[in-house]
Amino acid sequence: MIEFKNVTKIYGDSVKAVDHVSFEVPKGNIVVFLGPSGCGKTTTLRMVNRLESITEGTILVNGTDVNSLIEIELRRKIGYVIQHNGLFPNMTIEENVMAVPNLLGWDRKKKRDRYNYLMDLVGLNPDEYRKRFPNELSGGQQQRVGIARAMAADPPVMLMDEPFGALDPIIRSRIQNEFLQIQQEVQKTILFVSHDIDEAIKMGDHIAIFKNGELMQYDSPSELLARPKSEFVREFVGQDRALKSLSLHTVEDLVAEQSLQNIQGVGKNRKAIETDTNLRDALSILLNQEADQLVVKDNQKTIGAIRIEDVETYLHQHIK
Ligand SMILES: Nc1ncnc2c1ncn2[C@@H]1O[C@H](COP(=O)(O)OP(=O)(O)O)[C@@H](O)[C@H]1O
Ligand SMILES: [Mg+2]
Repeated sequence: MIEFKNVTKIYGDSVKAVDHVSFEVPKGNIVVFLGPSGCGKTTTLRMVNRLESITEGTILVNGTDVNSLIEIELRRKIGYVIQHNGLFPNMTIEENVMAVPNLLGWDRKKKRDRYNYLMDLVGLNPDEYRKRFPNELSGGQQQRVGIARAMAADPPVMLMDEPFGALDPIIRSRIQNEFLQIQQEVQKTILFVSHDIDEAIKMGDHIAIFKNGELMQYDSPSELLARPKSEFVREFVGQDRALKSLSLHTVEDLVAEQSLQNIQGVGKNRKAIETDTNLRDALSILLNQEADQLVVKDNQKTIGAIRIEDVETYLHQHIK
């Protein structure tokens, strides 16, 4: 668990970057720090691993004041991933991933096993990349290595500062999904900076939305979308709050309440989706493909179809 207690950061004499911020992050949760550029997200994150000093207040990680941790404990307990991955250009991929274990003096076998495990976890072949250098990899591959490196010593806490911000939208979406899968396995407590509301909704168990260093709202994505507590949050979340909320519901949720349509016609290109598809994606396929029906499959077995009207009905019943 991570606890912020009345934390303030003042740069120099007067730049108040973070202003009396308090919140708690339960173990195993992802909290996304969201807000416009300059609102204090990065500063808030970097006080946790003491890359920035805390002017006032306290940050606790699993009950321990971060100010009482020595450098080597900080590195072991807190992984850090940044946008341009920060890989060491002159070190091989294996050396990069094993940077912290090297510091900790792990033996060779333990390091090699850990390297193999982590590379498999992030979807890269351990042997293929072992001796290569960061600049020989694509942006997406480098970002995966950055994640593996941050997880090397199995830290309970991960800090991620716009980790996927430099990737193009398709790769970014894929890595987000993969990362959420990894998280199901590893269950880290994660602080994740983003300026993108869609990313925040997708990745966050909770969202902390900041303005000028102040914490404006701390809520689950669905609460934030349903009940923005201020004009600022309402505007930041955007016009189509209802549509965004749809991404938090799946076809399975709809199927649980509404009977499915019979499948009409034969259409060769008729699109099929699995029940774990979120309703926002389902709706956008319906709208973009101009297909009037989507065939719904549950574990590859066809169970019926949905139309735009079905999504609308669901929307009106659950999301105002
Ligand atoms: N090292 C620094 N020295 C002085 N001011 C800083 C420093 N780092 C950030 N700031 C200021 O603190 C505020 C918050 O910055 P930052 O935490 O980087 O915001 P964000 O990550 O949300 O874009 C901004 O006004 C920024 O200019
Ligand atoms: Mg930042």
